[in-house]
Amino acid sequence: TGMFTFDPGFLATASCESKITFIDGDLGMLYYRGYPIEQLAEKCDYLEVCYLLLNGELPNAAQRTEFVRGIMRHNMLHDQLFSLFKGFRRDAHPMAVMVGVVGALSAFYHDSLDITNAEHRRISAHRLIAKLPTIAAQAYRYSKGLPFSYPKNGLTYAENFMHMMFSTPCEEYKVNPVLARALDRIFTLHADHEQNASTSTVRLAGSSGANPFACIAAGIACLWGPSHGGANEAVLKMLDEIGSADNVAEFMDGVKDKRYKLMGFGHRVYKNMDPRAAIMKETCDEVLRELGLQDDPKFKLAMALEKIALEDPYFVERKLYPNVDFYSGIVLSAIGIPVSMFTPIFALARTVGWIAHWTEMIADPQQKIGRPRQLYTGAERRDVAPVSDR
Ligand code: CMC
Repeated sequence: TGMFTFDPGFLATASCESKITFIDGDLGMLYYRGYPIEQLAEKCDYLEVCYLLLNGELPNAAQRTEFVRGIMRHNMLHDQLFSLFKGFRRDAHPMAVMVGVVGALSAFYHDSLDITNAEHRRISAHRLIAKLPTIAAQAYRYSKGLPFSYPKNGLTYAENFMHMMFSTPCEEYKVNPVLARALDRIFTLHADHEQNASTSTVRLAGSSGANPFACIAAGIACLWGPSHGGANEAVLKMLDEIGSADNVAEFMDGVKDKRYKLMGFGHRVYKNMDPRAAIMKETCDEVLRELGLQDDPKFKLAMALEKIALEDPYFVERKLYPNVDFYSGIVLSAIGIPVSMFTPIFALARTVGWIAHWTEMIADPQQKIGRPRQLYTGAERRDVAPVSDR
C-alpha cells in the first residue's frame, strides 16, 4: 500500500484523542465522561447530560439552574429565520430544512465566526443546543401548514419540544410525563457516540477553522443517511413494508439472501447488545403499556422480528443485535411523532455531542487540519488530444 496505511471506512484508524465518550463494543459498554450510560439515563435529565458532555463534570444544583436558564435564554429563533423556512417547499424532508436553517445561523451570529474566543465558542454551543428543538419543531409545523410555535420556558427540554411540535393556537398540548421522560431518554441515549460518521464530519469540517454552525450543518447532512441517523426512520418503513407478522419468515429470507438489510440491527462498534438498546427496550415497553399499544399490530410485528433475529443463526453468527434505533423508532412512533421527524430528533439530541467534540478539537493545541491521503488508482500520465481527434 505504498507510503500510506489503506483503511477504507476507518476500521483501524483513531483520528484523534478524546476525553468525552468511551465505548467498548465487545462488552457493550458506553460511558460519557466516565459515567455509565445506564446511570445517566436513570438518574439525570438531558440538560444535565449536556452540561456533563460540554464541561466534563455533572452540574451541582446551582450550576444546573444557571445552565438551564442559560439554554432557555437562547431558545427562540430570530424572526427573519421564519422567512427562510417559508422558502422551502412544504413537502421538503425536515432534514433538508434543518441542514439549511442551521447552516444559516452563522449569518445571524457574527461572533460565532471568531472561533479563537472561548466565550464566543461557549455561546455558540448554548445557542445550538437551545435552538435545535425549535428549528426541528418548526420544520415539522411548516410541512403540516401549521403556524410557527414558540418555546415555553418552565417546561423541561423534552416537554418543550413536544409543546412546540403539537400545541395549536386553539389548544395547548398536554404533555404526558411518561412520554416526556421517554423522549428525554432518547435525547440522552443519542447525545454522543464518539467518532461516528457525523461527529467525524463535524471534526473534519471544523479542522479548517469553519464556524460551529456550518460544522453542525455538515454533521446533520451526514447523519441523514440511512446507514446512520436515517436508520430509525428506515425501521418504521420496513415494518410498514412487511405489513404483518405472517410475512416475517419471507422477509427474513430476503435479508439472508442479502437482498436488503434488517434495519435497526447491527452496529460498526457493538458486536454485543448495544447498551442504549437495552435501556430503550425498557422505555419502549413502558411507553407501549402507558398508551395501551401492546396489542397494536405494528408493535407486535416489531417484537416478533426482534425475537426471530435474536435467535436466528444468521444474526447470532454475525453478532447482529438490535441497535438503539430499532427501539427509538418504535417509541417515537407510539408517541405520535411522524416518521420524517425521527432523524431530526436524532440530530437535535446529537448536537451537544457534535459541539462538545468541536470544542475539544478547537481547544487542542495539537489540532491540525484533517487531510486524509489516498491510493491513486486512476489513469497514468497521458496527453490531451484536440477535441476533433477524441
Ligand atoms: N441486516 C442483515 N445483515 C447485516 C446487517 C443487517 N442490518 N448488518 C450487517 N449485516 C451483515 C453484513 O451483510 C455482513 O455479512 P457478511 O459477513 O456475510 O458479508 C456482516 O453482517 C457484517 O456487516 P458489515 O456491513 O461489515 O458491518 P458494518 O460495520 O460495515 O455495518 C451498519 C454496520 C450499522 C452500517 C450495518 O449493520 C447496517 O447497515 N445496519 C442497518 C442500518 C442501521 O440500523 N443503522 C443504524 C446504526 S446505529 C445508529 C447510527 O450509527 O446512526
